[in-house]
Amino acid sequence: MDWVDDFYSRTGHWWGRAESGIGERDRGRVEQAHRLRGAEPGRVLELGCGYGNTAAAFAEAGHRVVGVELTDRADRAAVHTDRLGAEALRVIRGDFYTVELDGRFDVVAYWNGFGIGTDAEQRRLLRRIGDEWLAPDGVALVDVFNPLVWASWDGEEDHLTPNPERGYEHELMQRLSFDPVSSTAVDTWWDAAEPERKITQRLRCYGPADLRLLLEGTGLALDAVIAGGEPVDLGGDHAGHAAMLRERHEYLAVLRHEPLSG
Ligand SMILES: C[S@@+](CC[C@H](N)C(=O)[O-])C[C@H]1O[C@@H](n2cnc3c(N)ncnc32)[C@H](O)[C@@H]1O
Repeated sequence: MDWVDDFYSRTGHWWGRAESGIGERDRGRVEQAHRLRGAEPGRVLELGCGYGNTAAAFAEAGHRVVGVELTDRADRAAVHTDRLGAEALRVIRGDFYTVELDGRFDVVAYWNGFGIGTDAEQRRLLRRIGDEWLAPDGVALVDVFNPLVWASWDGEEDHLTPNPERGYEHELMQRLSFDPVSSTAVDTWWDAAEPERKITQRLRCYGPADLRLLLEGTGLALDAVIAGGEPVDLGGDHAGHAAMLRERHEYLAVLRHEPLSG
């Protein structure tokens, strides 16, 4: 995907100062992981870890954490690694399709990024999680983009005004569209000062049923879906489910090795 480095590096320069500190979202992710596997210290791998702030929140909670990030967003993680030490937190600038890592992890997480590649690439990543990284009784936590909500945003435009006190220095424009054939969100941004320099991310979205198909043959199985912090009973009837139909642009997929125990 040739747009990936440019998109996340450029947006990282726009938002890094505002968003690289540890915040509520990062601590919420740690709490979610603790609810799913217990809070005892373990090894955590975070894929696409951006500025390293969620990884740092896991390290603060006592885990030994490795983060992998493709772009120069990883440079901002130095403030966390310097403070917490290399035993607790290591952030590797690298590509999760090729990076070589030692040992297995109790938690493998990919927050807010799954779907940046093609179906074949997503499958490759899932296979790496199952075959190489996830401990036998480990849990993989993967945010998955929800096609129904992204589709409902087709045609929307947004205008973000700068807020330098909070670290947002740029006046930004966003235009959203959705490709219903490939189930892909097309999310275009530009700095109002440089309208000719637009950047676009393309996010493949999967409903839970499609995710199950994608998982076939990867050695991983969908154990649970959590939307807005609430578990979605995978065996239930969900006609009219407001969170999945209208409210949550991503849901958390909880994956474990096949066969699922219990
Ligand atoms: C939408 S951002 C989310 C960042 C962070 N996980 C969060 O929740 O704030 C997706 C991140 O994944 C990274 N990424 C995408 N493809 C990657 C790859 N092949 N290897 C490593 N990182 C990648 C991007 O550079 C970006 O920082």
